[in-house]
Amino acid sequence: MSFKRRQFLRTIAKLGGASSLVPFFSSAQGQRLLKKLDSIKSFELDEVVRDESFWYQIKHAYTVSPAIVNLNNGGVSPQPKVVQEAVERYNRLSNEAPSLFMWRTLDSGKEPIREKLADLGGCSAEEIAINRNTSEALETIIFGLPLKAGDEVVLTKQDYPNMINAWKQKAHRDGIVLKWLNLELPVEDKQQLIDTFTSAFTAKTKVVHITHMINWVGQILPVKEIGAIAHERGIEVLVDGAHTFAQLDFNIPDLNCDYFGASLHKWLSAPFGTGMLWVKKEKIKKIYPLFAAPQFDSDDIRKFEHLGTRSLAIEQAIGQAVDFHHMIGTQIKEARLRYLTNYWISSVKNLAFVKIHSPQNPLLIGAIGSFSIDGRKSRDISSQLYKDFKIHTTGINWENIDVVRVTPNVYTVTKDLNRLIKAIKNFG
Ligand SMILES: Cc1ncc(COP(=O)(O)O)c(C=O)c1O
Repeated sequence: MSFKRRQFLRTIAKLGGASSLVPFFSSAQGQRLLKKLDSIKSFELDEVVRDESFWYQIKHAYTVSPAIVNLNNGGVSPQPKVVQEAVERYNRLSNEAPSLFMWRTLDSGKEPIREKLADLGGCSAEEIAINRNTSEALETIIFGLPLKAGDEVVLTKQDYPNMINAWKQKAHRDGIVLKWLNLELPVEDKQQLIDTFTSAFTAKTKVVHITHMINWVGQILPVKEIGAIAHERGIEVLVDGAHTFAQLDFNIPDLNCDYFGASLHKWLSAPFGTGMLWVKKEKIKKIYPLFAAPQFDSDDIRKFEHLGTRSLAIEQAIGQAVDFHHMIGTQIKEARLRYLTNYWISSVKNLAFVKIHSPQNPLLIGAIGSFSIDGRKSRDISSQLYKDFKIHTTGINWENIDVVRVTPNVYTVTKDLNRLIKAIKNFG
């Protein structure tokens, strides 16, 4: 079956079940988007990706400021209108009688949300715990995994600081040994990355921590290949999927990992403070929950959800975010984000004063791209981009990395990137 037929059938099938988006599709903006969705159904992937009028309709489904160009979507994503409205609606309902309408009515929607996330992750709902963010998901594993003094964990200096801190704390407390890799990014050769990780494995290695897409420069790591070798050697695989869940098209179980954490407020555009943890079914029993459960050694994934009172309005609105995501489709979203990154990078990479710090290999990059300007501190460049051009990026100075990170989103149009390209040229 051709891409267009497959994609169209999938989009319509998902929309059929997307009753949560109905108020949006009844609005004039929603109607325009529906019409546009209908008109692109005969397009090839490449045509959809380049159809700016479609992406303008997506922009209008958000409420982003027209005054600035926000190119720091890797930090946290804005939510489309349907998600914001759902949060407000569920919050108002909760406030009518919280212990009744939040704890009973809204919470009864939790299992359908779990199913929706499992469907998106291509896994069983019995392996998904809903929580608040990637940090919570991964720290559940880091602190809950029984390891003993002398056991080794392979990780990199380019992993996310919260995760690095968690492993350091665990090492201090339990005497495990951290084996640090120091990656010189970008790396264009997949095999080199596989070799770097696997050559650090020893007979004492018990866990490898892999950041699926490195947040500083967007490098995608070959998790599947590293995971396969790790498993052959009896090493468990923990994946930081903060930037890949709902950005790249993959099924979690295909990654050859045991544990996977993600923030839903990043690439899914779900409410702030939503995340998830995937644990391979047979591993659930041995992981101590971070927040104690009635039965800590249960093999029920729900043992990781005893988080105490929190807003169930935001948790419920994950449903609208998943439906909105399906309206675009993961394959189209991934291709569009990669197209946008390539769009701005290819326009500035040949300037003598610009250095690109992200891979050129399209299989090793997605929505995150980074650059630096000769002789200038990246944080100053990022500040100047905002001050002079109202372009919001993030300046990074971490370990061996000093870059300006640029992360567009599905509501970014090429006109926004033209503003960035013009601004970068101005630094020459
Ligand atoms: C690679 C990576 N891991 C983990 C996190 C933590 O995400 P959160 O703050 O949602 O817990 C981030 C946040 O930017 C990240 O980039």
